[in-house]
Order: sequence, then structure tokens, then C-alpha cells
Amino acid sequence: MTVKTQSDTDQLDQTQRSRICAAAAILNQGGIVAFPTETVYGLGADATNPAAVGKIYAIKQRPISHPLILHIGSRAHLEHWSQDIPETAWILAERFWPGPLTLILQKSRHVPDCVTGGQDTVGIRVPAHATALALLDAMHPEKAIAAPSANLYGRISPTTSAHVQAALAGKVDMILDGGPCQIGLESTIVRADQQTVSILRPGGVSVAEIESALNRPVSLAYNTPGQTVRVSGSLPAHYAPSTPLRLYTKAEIGQQALALAGQHFQTAVVTWSEFDPLSLSAPGIRHIAMPPDPVAYGKQLYAALHQCDQIGLDFILMEKPPQKPAWLAIADRLQRASRAHHKT
Ligand code: TXA
Ligand code: MG
Repeated sequence: MTVKTQSDTDQLDQTQRSRICAAAAILNQGGIVAFPTETVYGLGADATNPAAVGKIYAIKQRPISHPLILHIGSRAHLEHWSQDIPETAWILAERFWPGPLTLILQKSRHVPDCVTGGQDTVGIRVPAHATALALLDAMHPEKAIAAPSANLYGRISPTTSAHVQAALAGKVDMILDGGPCQIGLESTIVRADQQTVSILRPGGVSVAEIESALNRPVSLAYNTPGQTVRVSGSLPAHYAPSTPLRLYTKAEIGQQALALAGQHFQTAVVTWSEFDPLSLSAPGIRHIAMPPDPVAYGKQLYAALHQCDQIGLDFILMEKPPQKPAWLAIADRLQRASRAHHKT
């Protein structure tokens, strides 16, 4: 997917430009700034400053062995931060950057160990968001922003500055607002070395788009049982709202909701297919109708889950997504979110 409109820096007004300058100064001085990208909001620090990077792990309560993504302003900087870059990586960078694609490559000596969790590889991407690109541009040359998603470890990623505010207010030096994220799901993570190309996390760029750019099939490595977990988003239980979430087919979901309503539980029923609202009219049931198109659905998913958490419900019942390639990233996030509460 190309995200042109949100990455056009000419569209930034003067107020936003001065906020961006202030954010760059904070980052250059070792502070922490939450900033918008086209996928989700990031929790950013100067990647070359280990003390600043350390603050990210503390704020997020994330294990230090889980590496951060390095955000850079242009693929022209790729050789500064990585080495032994295979031809496949150049093709993908050219095709999808700026955009929702993270490349895992051999790191260069410029990347501190704290960014990579001690691994010899580094995740790198160029975000397709005008504010993020202008922020990178405003920092010292030869700096990059190390950033995970701006949520607490294991929770849902933020897609608006209000979501960041709710989770991290008072813990960061600045929250730079850039409007709602256009894609709403995290980047696709691709590991490319001289021999192989594999997808470590499905996301904003589809597997089909990657295969078509490379003109060859790629392997899917994100559900491999027994794999050493280095992608925290690949843990079985991740991306979870605090409200227990369950997945049901269209045929099951209405009955389940009514049964829970009968036990005086408050539930949200989140559907994407045609649904007769009357079949769900019982006290304690809220119906949230999502778009049937995966791009529009992906954009709204985390906001809907944040909303359910805020209302304070007992359960979120989600209609299972279609088993189609375009829904892969959504299905992946919903599976992990539902496993976080499998005991309840
Ligand atoms: O869209 C995104 O990717 C967002 C925005 C802010 O850019 N970032 C994001 O970061 O989702 P985070 O940290 O929440 O997820 C990045 C994933 C983590 O699961 C991390 O373990 C993995 O990328 N990762 C980073 N570097 C890696 C490496 N060298 N090898 C394997 N996995 C890596
Ligand atoms: Mg995350």
C-alpha cells in the first residue's frame, strides 16, 4: 500500500512545524517523544543515545531483550545503519518506503546494542507520515529515532494521540499529535538476508505485494512453533485490550452475546458482515458495526478496542475475520488479543 497523502511534508502548517522543532530538540537532548506514523504512534528516542533508549524500555515496561525499530528519514541512510544489504532489501525499500514495511538487516557499528537487544540484526523503516519525516529531518544528521509502538508492553497500539495520552501521560516529555493513523496496524516485518526473505509479522504491506515486488514466493515465519521469541508481537498473547476478547463466527456470535446478557454481563459485539441489529437488542449488548473492507477495518480496529476498554465492559465478542490474504494482519492481531484472556 502506498501512503502518499500522509507523507507529504509540504502540507505541514507553521504551528505543526514549530511543534516538530520542539520535539526534535527534546530528542536531541535525550528526551522521549511520542510521535505519529502512518501505522501506529511510536515512542521515540535518539537511537544513538543509550540512556534515552533505556527510558523507552522503562516507560513501556518491555523486556530489554526485545529490540526496537529504527526509524530513518530516507533509504539513502540505509547503509549508515546496516551492512551486507541484500538486493531483495533494496528492491523492497525502493518499492515500499516511505511506508509500513520494516526490514531486518545486519546492523552496522552505528547501531547501539540497546536498540537491538544485543542481536546483530536491526529493524529499520522509513515512516510515511509528514510529521514523522519532518521530525527526522529536523534532528541532527546521522541520528535516527528508535521507537516501539507507544503503548504499554502487550497492550493495543495507539492510533490517535488521545490513545497515547490515556496510556502514557506524564511519562513522556512530549506527545506530538499528527491526527489519526492512516493504516492503523503495525508495519509488516520482513527479514531479508543473502539467501532468504521471510515475513516475521504481517502488517500494512501484504504478503502478495511483497511477493509481487520480488517476483518470488516468501516464507511466513511468524507462527513457527518453538521459534525463539525475538519479535515481541509474535508472542501468542499480545496486542490485547484489557477487556477479555473472544472470537466467534457470525452464526455463533449473537447467541453468545444473548447468553452473556442473560447472566447480566456487559458486552460489545463487533461485526464486519451484514448483521440485523434487532437480533442483538438486549440490555447490556452494544453492537459495533465495522467496515467489511479490510483496509478500512484495519484503520478502525485499535480505536474500536480502545473504545471498548474505556466503556468498561465485561467482554468483547468479535466476529472472526474472513480467511482471505487481505485480512491476514487483522486475523493475526485478533488471534493474539483473544489468547491474552484465554483463561477467562
Ligand atoms: O508500525 C510499526 O512497526 C510501529 C511504528 C511505531 O513504526 N512500531 C512497532 O514497534 O510496532 P514495536 O516495537 O511495537 O514492534 C516492533 C517489533 C517488535 O516485536 C520487535 O521485537 C521486532 O519488531 N524487532 C525489532 N528489531 C528486530 C530484530 N532485529 N529482529 C527481530 N525482530 C525485531
Ligand atoms: Mg508494539
